[in-house]
Amino acid sequence: MHPDPNRPPLSPSTIAVTAGRPSGAGAPLNHPIVMASNFREGGEYTRTHGTETWAALEEAVGALEGGRAVSFASGMAAASAIVYALAPKVVVAPTVSYMGVRALLSEHQAVGHIEVRAVDITDTVAVAAAAQGADVVWVETPTNPTMETADLAAIGAAAASAGARMVVDSTFATPLGQQPLAHGAAIVLHSGTKFIGGHSDLLIGLCVTGDDAVYDRLIAARTYQGGTPGSLEAFLALRGLRTLPVRLAAMERNAITLVERLRAHPGVAEVRYPGHGAMMAVIVRGGAAGADAVCAGVQIVVPATSLGGVESTIERRQKYAGDAHVDPGLLRFSVGIEDVDDLWADLAANLPTQQEIRRDPRQAMSSSRIAGVDSSP
Ligand SMILES: Cc1ncc(COP(=O)(O)O)c(C=O)c1O
Repeated sequence: MHPDPNRPPLSPSTIAVTAGRPSGAGAPLNHPIVMASNFREGGEYTRTHGTETWAALEEAVGALEGGRAVSFASGMAAASAIVYALAPKVVVAPTVSYMGVRALLSEHQAVGHIEVRAVDITDTVAVAAAAQGADVVWVETPTNPTMETADLAAIGAAAASAGARMVVDSTFATPLGQQPLAHGAAIVLHSGTKFIGGHSDLLIGLCVTGDDAVYDRLIAARTYQGGTPGSLEAFLALRGLRTLPVRLAAMERNAITLVERLRAHPGVAEVRYPGHGAMMAVIVRGGAAGADAVCAGVQIVVPATSLGGVESTIERRQKYAGDAHVDPGLLRFSVGIEDVDDLWADLAANLPTQQEIRRDPRQAMSSSRIAGVDSSP
């Protein structure tokens, strides 16, 4: 919305820069980092009422998504708050999605709090059927790490007609890539740790809703579960958000060029890229060994488990027990803002060559998996 109702609505790039700023003559351009848990009488307590640092971030993210935002200690704290806030009995959830959220829902199922109905989120008919009698339809799009996409408009309509609430984990899309509230989502979830923060230096989570009763429940979840964000993290996340439009544009330009080059490379079996954004899944020929060789050899792209920062990161996901079902050669690739030719030279030097593929066409061998508590981002 434009502050002046007689002028056209602002573009997201402008909202990212302007929302959540102090106003009034002489005001600083940024809200301060309020390092206080306690306030003098007449004031409040931070866990229950937040601070102006949180409020500034929440105002900006809420403005971009078209709702009211609540900030949390991490994306997982935000996901846990959703389960608390909506208290569902039956949850439809993607078979393939971020493994930490799947683990969270399984944990609740294991102790009898909820029943999870796992569905292929790309199969809208199956999702609509599963929504019958469900309380929540949990969507992640694009999915981590397989880059599948869901039809938000159709699933939103199906959930509404079944009387279920749609929750959308929009972390990979960012608030600029899609606005799930416009498709009827009750809550949008972001791991702000990723693209919103954008510099791999903080953990933060956000939920956004257009429903005042749901907003109150999310505040209650934060107050009683205690998953509060740090003030420095909230400040840095908002500082990151200011440049999200330019970072994302640069990342997307790089991603589009790299997708073309990767698809033409003999060492690559498949590239999954939804056509926009900075995330892609690259399936390398030679299975686990071929993909591990890329991770071991790259010098500019960083082999690392998180994503969404200015630096390009890559990871072979099937090594985690929680992602055991994905292709052994799948590399999740978060494209950064480096020079695209430098990135390409780094990748091309480490992808399997034509000769290597000819020498051993069955190179698909599995490597050991990391077991145990499994919620690598
Ligand atoms: C899609 C998605 N949702 C949620 C999370 C959890 O976020 P956090 O690591 O900030 O707790 C992640 C983390 O990787 C993610 O990729």
